[in-house]
Amino acid sequence: MSVKVAPSLLSADFSRLYDEVKRIEANGADWVHLDVMDGHFVPSITIGPVVVQSLRSQTDLFMDAHLMVSEPDNHLEQFIEAGANLVTIQFEATAHLDRVLRKIKKAGAKAGVALNPATPASVLEYVWPLLDLVLVMSVNPGAGGQAFIPEVLPKIKYLANQIHSRSLQVELEVDGGINLETAPAVIKAGASVLVAGSAVFKAENGMDLINDLKKMQNVL
Ligand code: DX5
Ligand code: ZN
Repeated sequence: MSVKVAPSLLSADFSRLYDEVKRIEANGADWVHLDVMDGHFVPSITIGPVVVQSLRSQTDLFMDAHLMVSEPDNHLEQFIEAGANLVTIQFEATAHLDRVLRKIKKAGAKAGVALNPATPASVLEYVWPLLDLVLVMSVNPGAGGQAFIPEVLPKIKYLANQIHSRSLQVELEVDGGINLETAPAVIKAGASVLVAGSAVFKAENGMDLINDLKKMQNVL
């Protein structure tokens, strides 16, 4: 099975978001990755539920909302009502991981946890049954266009092993600095979903990267 590719709209042209979504749809995107930042958990402020709702009416793509916000329990229902299929919260942003994950499921979405580069995988030990996805941050959250941090590769391998040995149906997503050079090691380590922002929207022939990444699995 090939990896799924989730282009991040963070690096898209925000004055033509509709066209950008149609462009990734036409070029083989599996999911659309929506980076939500609140100016508190990370310094930037990006999109809110109104944008998610507008896009929902224009695309059938699976909407992958990555909440880089403090106290995600206060916001997640709005994103689910707006049409997000999956809500991923940052482990570091809540003291009540179990409760927040249950709240996401209750509201009718799939639930994910994102781990910052310095956060160990072991924090997931007691929440595995609540998870649909684990997101390994391969940059520090807050901006697109940063360099991939190779020290996260053993964490990806460890998590892939955990998912396999526990026979779980959990996606393993990697986000940050993904491009043709960094993707092979990430796929080899066991990732099942790759997020790519600047490499898709800012590079020349970036749209080709979507299918290039999907084909990569077969040649590794
Ligand atoms: C970073 C975001 C990423 C980002 C990825 O805080 O979570 O999704 O947009 O961008 P690239 O692919 O440019 O590293
Ligand atoms: Zn993201």
